[in-house]
Amino acid sequence: MRGVGVVGLGIGTLHVRALRRLRDRFTVVAVCDPDETRSGPVAEHIGADVVTFDELLARDDIEIVHVCTPPALHLEQCLAALLAGKSVVCEKPVVASLADVDQLIEAEAAAAGRLMPVFQYRFGNGLQQVKALVDAGIAGRAYTSSVEVAWRRRPEYYAAPWRGRWATELGGVLLSQAVHALDMLTYIAGPPTRVFCRITTRVNDIEVEDCAAASLELSGGSLATITATLGSPEEVTRHRFHFEAFSAESGTAPYTSSSLPWTVTPDSEEAAAAVEAVTAGWTERAEEWQGQFERWADALDAGTDPPVTLADARASLELLTALYWSARTGEDVALPLDGNHPCYGGWLP
Ligand SMILES: NC(=O)c1ccc[n+]([C@@H]2O[C@H](COP(=O)([O-])OP(=O)(O)OC[C@H]3O[C@@H](n4cnc5c(N)ncnc54)[C@H](O)[C@@H]3O)[C@@H](O)[C@H]2O)c1
Repeated sequence: MRGVGVVGLGIGTLHVRALRRLRDRFTVVAVCDPDETRSGPVAEHIGADVVTFDELLARDDIEIVHVCTPPALHLEQCLAALLAGKSVVCEKPVVASLADVDQLIEAEAAAAGRLMPVFQYRFGNGLQQVKALVDAGIAGRAYTSSVEVAWRRRPEYYAAPWRGRWATELGGVLLSQAVHALDMLTYIAGPPTRVFCRITTRVNDIEVEDCAAASLELSGGSLATITATLGSPEEVTRHRFHFEAFSAESGTAPYTSSSLPWTVTPDSEEAAAAVEAVTAGWTERAEEWQGQFERWADALDAGTDPPVTLADARASLELLTALYWSARTGEDVALPLDGNHPCYGGWLP
């Protein structure tokens, strides 16, 4: 049984709920949030202590710290937790630049604990099936992929003072909402080699972008498009992947699009048989945060890499950096970005 402390109780409450469903693997012993209207009820409900961040780091019964605070606090809190000998689970975006994530990678290498970034959409059973098809080597050449993130955020959403501003939210729809859909794209279709992006702010009275469109070239030469907006009355998330052997299309439920059902359309009888061989008898596993934390518990027990690593978070941050840099300069940006790139230290204007 691994003792956990959860820091920040907005989305952190969903971490607590997922951990409670895994109570044979984890026990939440303390929570931390300066807003007592948030920490008090959660602590009372689950029988945990309310503590400060320093108290949480000093406790011997806490092995894992979940960092669920606003993004601008993640770097300092992750570094402090690693230095205190803890393992860390950190919400997205882990940090604000490639330089910062490289600092975390170095800190993790020198630490006793591991750091697992959160990409809970990866663990939808639909996406996992498509990943299994690609990993089985039956997809053939990738042709095109498309990603659509059409969500709705109204002014009330920006009441949280950290939202909507470059300095504290670090980005808009690309970083805060579409980041999971971008990760799903590269998880299946591979890393980007070139990106061109336009962003604009048209929906809400905020600093950061709330509409974006991008075209990408991916490793191996396939192409992808991304559109993202926070102004869609009907909320939709949709992925389409077109491979030589099959097409795969997600459902459109905005926050569970990686779950089943997905529509996989084989291009031939032979491809249909290959798909069937992978998906027949498929055993569904827990999804979302619970799905990620269950796989994390397995990895901790086995001493293997977490199901999402800092290298995955770095790849996500590299894509975001390139997208923001392209939007700012009008450049068609080639990846990977090296340490001398003007945006290595961050994309903030
Ligand atoms: N994985 C996802 O799908 C997902 C969804 C929503 C939010 N998030 C991420 O989770 C993080 C938090 O977002 P949110 O929506 O919960 O925000 P929020 O504003 O609702 O909650 C953040 C909480 O952190 C607390 N906090 C602030 N400073 C703190 C400190 N120094 N120590 C402890 N607690 C502190 C605040 O009081 C607040 O209760 C962000 O990085 C966000 O991008 C991820």
